[in-house]
Amino acid sequence: MLFLTRLTQAKTMLLSPQAERNWEDLCTMLEDVLEDQSHRQLFALELGSGTGQHVIRFAQKMPFVTWQPSDIKQESRDSIKAYINATHAKTVLQPVHLDASEPWEKWAGLPRSSCDVIVAINLLQYSSFKTAQVGLLYEQESGCLEEVFVKTDP
Ligand SMILES: C[S@@+](CC[C@H](N)C(=O)[O-])C[C@H]1O[C@@H](n2cnc3c(N)ncnc32)[C@H](O)[C@@H]1O
Repeated sequence: MLFLTRLTQAKTMLLSPQAERNWEDLCTMLEDVLEDQSHRQLFALELGSGTGQHVIRFAQKMPFVTWQPSDIKQESRDSIKAYINATHAKTVLQPVHLDASEPWEKWAGLPRSSCDVIVAINLLQYSSFKTAQVGLLYEQESGCLEEVFVKTDP
């Protein structure tokens, strides 16, 4: 039974070679951005979390942050769940469905002021113009502490 569970888990854990290559640099950048706030517990929303590799690494490096991963795709959310289970990550919440092109009121019911940080890595350049537009609008209106929109090298 345990063996079957592990097999199913491994199947849903997607692997992005790019995420494996760039997570360390991204962690360093985020740690720099959040350094001043590390004395308190923060809440970070990640848009377009993809496989979940990044959010798990971020959680391991920045335990003062509670991470809310999200993605529009079920396959990605399944992968994120599998990473959470496999790593027993305590500060990563279960992933939610979130379409970043929707108005922020529809962002998984998250209250407007609940996010201290919003992170989007390699999302905007692959998304429709509408997504980029809404993302930037949210950035101006949200009043959250930090918004980190990153495009990495391939
Ligand atoms: C290129 S991948 C990047 C994944 C991850 N952030 C990384 O850097 O490894 C883009 C991700 O954004 C998600 N995505 C695309 N359009 C989206 C939207 N409108 N709202 C939320 N997620 C979206 C895709 O499902 C995919 O997982």
